[in-house]
Amino acid sequence: MPDPTPSFTLVDVPGAMPLLGHLRAYKTRPVELLSTWWHQHGDALRFRLGLKTRYLFSHPDLAEDVLVKHPDRFAKVYDPRRPSSLALVLGNGLITASGDVWKRHRRIIQPIFHRARIATMVDQMAQVGEQRMAGWAAEEGQLVDIAIEMRQLTLEVISHTMFSTSMAQHIDWMIHKLQVSSQYAVDSDSNPLFLPLWMPTSRNREFRSALRSMDELIYGLLARRRQSGERHGDLLDVLLHARDDETGEGLTDQELRDEILTIFAAGHSTTANALSWTWYLLATHPEAKTRFHEEVDRVLQGRTPRADDLEHLPYMRAVFEESLRLYPTAPLVQRKVATPTTIGGLSLPQDARVVVSIYNLHRHPDFWPHPDQFLPERWLGTDRPCSRYAYLPFGAGPRACVGLHFASVEGLLLLALIGRRYDLLLAQDRVEPQFMVTLRPKGGLLMTRQPRITPAVSAAR
Ligand code: HEM
Repeated sequence: MPDPTPSFTLVDVPGAMPLLGHLRAYKTRPVELLSTWWHQHGDALRFRLGLKTRYLFSHPDLAEDVLVKHPDRFAKVYDPRRPSSLALVLGNGLITASGDVWKRHRRIIQPIFHRARIATMVDQMAQVGEQRMAGWAAEEGQLVDIAIEMRQLTLEVISHTMFSTSMAQHIDWMIHKLQVSSQYAVDSDSNPLFLPLWMPTSRNREFRSALRSMDELIYGLLARRRQSGERHGDLLDVLLHARDDETGEGLTDQELRDEILTIFAAGHSTTANALSWTWYLLATHPEAKTRFHEEVDRVLQGRTPRADDLEHLPYMRAVFEESLRLYPTAPLVQRKVATPTTIGGLSLPQDARVVVSIYNLHRHPDFWPHPDQFLPERWLGTDRPCSRYAYLPFGAGPRACVGLHFASVEGLLLLALIGRRYDLLLAQDRVEPQFMVTLRPKGGLLMTRQPRITPAVSAAR
């Protein structure tokens, strides 16, 4: 059958160096560099990282082909026999696994992320949020790194909802270890100059030690749950009691470790960064912020948000969607060509790596009027404001984000919960994005938390 996707012209990005290709420029600011190349050269590009050729796709039709229409031809890039990049940290968890292992684990994990299950977690999310807000009360008016605060908050939400435990005591430590290992995963990816993990460099030692500490924490969590024999109906129970339909076997300890770490890692930094970018955009768009606060005040009347409030906060939802458009926290999605294939008139050799830039799709001028402007209003009509695959903050196809509903509910709930009490004011001049598996504000996001004095809030205080 002929390929219905329109044809694209492939352009080779100029300036590749011998051996390194475009690696040096790419490593400094990958997301922005891929955006610049796209503006300069078009929707389908070829470049080189080290000796490996990469294809960069920035058009919704190509994204649909890779992620949705032909997932069998475009595999995940990780090989469990030779772990690299993120797989060095997460092992063979849901994000990095492929084939039968992925299918089986997705079948086990998916039901806990069903919309109806998430609705039952909202009160727990709100409780965690209120507890942390109580801590904020003592520090009102002080400068704070909101990016870290959001990570602490979302890590605690994921710990309570998925593992029925608190990470409060380990939170700074765990965030640090996750940061060390994410940075290692990004820096080592496709870098022929990066020294292999077995060499005793200080960087390698630091990375191994971070992994060891996280393993201890996770195996401790597993041991405590097994010893207690308690059932919480949470993800940890689901994983511990999953049995293979055919063999009746459960998950091994290594598989459990990989899935737990995957959910801890993927389940907190993504939403935390989405929230940080939202606070940044609101702080830099005063009219939008006023409208956001007015809506929150009107709907909540000074009380803690509940699940049924979320459908009555359309402007807040629009703000969150627009923030995920401008700063998609998973800005680049990669695949490996599993079998020689042609899409959009382009022939792709086996093993070639494809990068779909979600960041570029979200700012594509053919699909978004005023693509670089923060315009929450574009989301307020009843119709989706763009072609289906021009907006993919959670990916698409069979490997789309399993935590989509969780993240959406959590993000909106925490925005309402914080926004009803605080006005967050930006306290730094320059804010730059940095790619470290997720897109985060580089060096943090300094803000002051100004308590909001509205009649309803002061009555509730
Ligand atoms: C705003 C928040 C979030 C964003 C923007 C986001 C984005 C994404 C994207 C784009 C993918 C697809 C990656 C690919 O195609 O290679 C993905 C996959 C995934 N996400 Fe999320 N995510 C978010 C929150 C979460 C949360 C809260 C969890 C868990 C609690 C989670 C767990 C996962 C997992 C396990 C996968 C791999 C799914 C699979 O391959 O079967 N994510 N996410």
